[in-house]
Amino acid sequence: MQKTINERIEELRAQFQQGIDAAPNLEALEKLRVKFLGKKGEVTTLMRGMGKLPADERPLFGKLLNEFKGFAEKMLDNQKKQLKEKDASQRWEKERLDITLPGKPFHLGRKHPLTVITEEIEEIFSYMGFQIAEGPEVESDYYNFEALNMSKEHPARDMQDSFYINPEVLLRTHTSPMQVRTMEAMAPGLPVRIICPGKVFRRDDDVTHSPMFHQVEGLVVDRGVSLADLKGILMLFTKEMFGEGRELRFRPSFFPFTEPSAEVDISCIICGGSGCRTCGDTGWLEILGSGMVHPRVLEVSGYDSEEVTGYAFGIGIERIAMLKYGIDDIRLFYYNDLRMLQQY
Ligand code: FA5
Ligand code: MG
Repeated sequence: MQKTINERIEELRAQFQQGIDAAPNLEALEKLRVKFLGKKGEVTTLMRGMGKLPADERPLFGKLLNEFKGFAEKMLDNQKKQLKEKDASQRWEKERLDITLPGKPFHLGRKHPLTVITEEIEEIFSYMGFQIAEGPEVESDYYNFEALNMSKEHPARDMQDSFYINPEVLLRTHTSPMQVRTMEAMAPGLPVRIICPGKVFRRDDDVTHSPMFHQVEGLVVDRGVSLADLKGILMLFTKEMFGEGRELRFRPSFFPFTEPSAEVDISCIICGGSGCRTCGDTGWLEILGSGMVHPRVLEVSGYDSEEVTGYAFGIGIERIAMLKYGIDDIRLFYYNDLRMLQQY
């Protein structure tokens, strides 16, 4: 039985519709277009075969075929648009950022509390007209001891148990060798007014003593410098560092390179003066040694001790930091425990 023209076109439409509904993506859609509307596609083939139809059926067939062609093109366009939109929204879903999620925390580096304190000390003394100098941590026996009035047999060498590298070279046990180095470099220039921060090393180890610690040396040499000037500078320094109302104690002491000598204590902040393990039950914590520069040290460094006088001091930076922050064990500075370091 011959199919009617209408039936054939309807069949074509149905096939096409199925194909469209099943097309999962743009690629499948393009295949469908080629299959129906391409140069060798269904529509072209049917057009070509039109000549075999009876003459009176041709116009209707041609009209319906054209209608189908228009319909198919429109459907393909529509479907293409829809697939594209779906594709874009899927991609959006995949790449979408939830801007309400909490961010990843990142940690800023910060200065070690000892660096902060050192800079603060430098600032206070700079403000008072001191220059900053630095010297070697590996030092000769001459600068560390000999030039500071401690000959080889001097018992005062035992005050500071040292790390020797060879019989003539050691890790400096204090920053005082910088007194001699500075004066040597400047003599006979006046005034000398410097501080020298840096690392020092001793065979020490307990809650207030560390084998490596930091000092700031201070040195002033000029005509007419007196013990009163020293006391004044140190009182000003402690006031700047700790504020008013901290108790300060000058205690006569002995250093071979100063005469007279004094050590300075500050009332213990940990126990408030009643006595604890940090202050060794004394209520006081020693922060520095000081004194008038010994005439012999001035002389070996190139200054005339008849003409000039000087004072010097050596401050323990860790002790200042302990008092400032209320830290009761010096070793906490070196454990590199971030929970501790991040508090300052
Ligand atoms: C000296 O080192 C002298 N050079 C100080 C000085 C300089 C005197 C200039 C006169 C003129 P002393 O050993 O006392 O002195 O140490 C000075 C300060 O360093 C002490 O008051 C203390 O605050 C600190 N200190 C000493 N040993 C240690 C240690 N092992 N750990 C931490 N701090 C220390
Ligand atoms: Mg001391």
